[in-house]
Amino acid sequence: RTTAVILAGGTGQRVGLSIPKQLLKIAGKAVIEHTLTTFENADSIDDIIVLMAQGYVPDIEKIVAKAGFKKVSKIIEGGSTRNETTERAIAALGEGLAEGEDVNVLFHDAVRPLLSQRVIDDCVTALERYQAVDVAIPSADTIIVTRTHGEDGEFITEIPDRARLRRGQTPQAFKLSTIRRAYEVAAGDPNFQATDDCSVVLKYLPDVPIHVVAGDEYNMKVTQPVDVFIADKLFQLASTAAPEQVSEEAYRELLTGKTVVVFGG
Ligand code: CTP
Repeated sequence: RTTAVILAGGTGQRVGLSIPKQLLKIAGKAVIEHTLTTFENADSIDDIIVLMAQGYVPDIEKIVAKAGFKKVSKIIEGGSTRNETTERAIAALGEGLAEGEDVNVLFHDAVRPLLSQRVIDDCVTALERYQAVDVAIPSADTIIVTRTHGEDGEFITEIPDRARLRRGQTPQAFKLSTIRRAYEVAAGDPNFQATDDCSVVLKYLPDVPIHVVAGDEYNMKVTQPVDVFIADKLFQLASTAAPEQVSEEAYRELLTGKTVVVFGG
């Protein structure tokens, strides 16, 4: 059994709207509705739980009812950090499980609305062999590590080999028993701090291998104001072609903003 957990407990301070960014409409639908549609349509997903920003549960209930999503089995309030939101999901997932019963769980950022079915399927398949799975893409940018020296500002301490660097996306997929154990160990660490779930497994269950599945460039996280425009453009492209094979015409249309005339044929 595989459950998708949609993490929507954030308020989107960096985008800076009066509503959380997951409720913003892009390409005709709220960002989170796009995300839920992808999981609702995924054959490998049995049910979905949503963790929503405090005070916005009625909004998501309305969206789910109107869209008629059948797989959404629970909507609960998120926590005050992303990891607290994950912990609430783990608690909710444990309810009703028989002793020794395990399930697959995929944690996905509500604000990555362009996730492909291919990535979901690859995560679920990887869980047949591995207890922890991440999704990542190569980094086009060189990544530098810095340290801040007071008023003098930032200085480079390291430039890791770009060929080995990846940018982490979501879903992050686990056997429920594994991610639960990782958070149990983390609870004993007074300095616990993380921004994702794989790093909790990496740090607190170092013997568990974390397999990496290829993500894709479309699977961006709406984080900064400019991302709203990029996501909107990507939806236009996605409606004309599969993400992996965007046609040359679609590219030209995107770049020129004009209707493309195809000669010949
Ligand atoms: N998230 C969550 N619970 C939190 C904080 C974040 O479930 N307490 C979710 C967000 O809703 C989002 C995902 O984690 O889907 C990625 O986080 P991020 O992009 O940082 O979202 P926000 O915290 O909303 O953004 P910001 O940091 O700009 O406020």
